[in-house]
Amino acid sequence: MERLDKVLANLGEGSRKEVRLLIRKGAVTVDGAVVRDPEMKIDPESVVLCLNGRTISYKKYIYIMMHKPAGLLSTTRDPKTPTVLSLLPEKLQKQGLFPAGRLDKDSEGLLLLTNDGDTAHRLISPNFHVEKRYFVRYAGMLDADAAERIEGGITIDGGEVCRPGRLVCTAPGEAEVFVTEGKYHQVKRMITACGGEVTYLRRLSFGPLALDPQLHPGDFRFLTAEEEKEILKIHEKLSGKV
Ligand code: URA
Repeated sequence: MERLDKVLANLGEGSRKEVRLLIRKGAVTVDGAVVRDPEMKIDPESVVLCLNGRTISYKKYIYIMMHKPAGLLSTTRDPKTPTVLSLLPEKLQKQGLFPAGRLDKDSEGLLLLTNDGDTAHRLISPNFHVEKRYFVRYAGMLDADAAERIEGGITIDGGEVCRPGRLVCTAPGEAEVFVTEGKYHQVKRMITACGGEVTYLRRLSFGPLALDPQLHPGDFRFLTAEEEKEILKIHEKLSGKV
């Protein structure tokens, strides 16, 4: 059970102070009855909430697919550089969303934003082996045994050993890289360890989610019901519920 003013504020209907005023003015109904007590405890998942006659749909968790553009940080705030949250409308910025996993500032591609900490944690934890697929352009020549070394678990600079991944060369100077963990600059360092230098990187997929080709860099959309089901299925599988 949660306080009515908190629920409405979390849904982006205004600040706590603003929604309290609206509630006191009689603008809010719970299951059809006007409620003027901002502290009333409700179960937001089972009541019908209306504000000024408009039904407000409550979802505990939000999942957004973003095509991250280069130049933004995959964090929630930074004193100097704009973050991916700046691409969202104000209402969504107030919902406690954060990126599940990171892409470097100069990287592009699929980024999942959510306020579901549990699922995000499981999706990015190296213990759960969720596969990520990246398209890279690189300068230089990759060693002849690059794919083999990546499949065997390549050692990157600083002596870190990566989990087995995959490298598929798709064109001269271009490749797809598949990894199941997210070490700092991992793909760039793997390519460096193979003799190349990444000049462009885009994440194409993250577990069951594939970057929507309709999304241009900077665009975002909510996950479809099917996509949500898929990531929650992983979540359940990983936490041993299925
Ligand atoms: N690996 C990298 O090196 N950079 C990214 O942004 C993602 C994976």
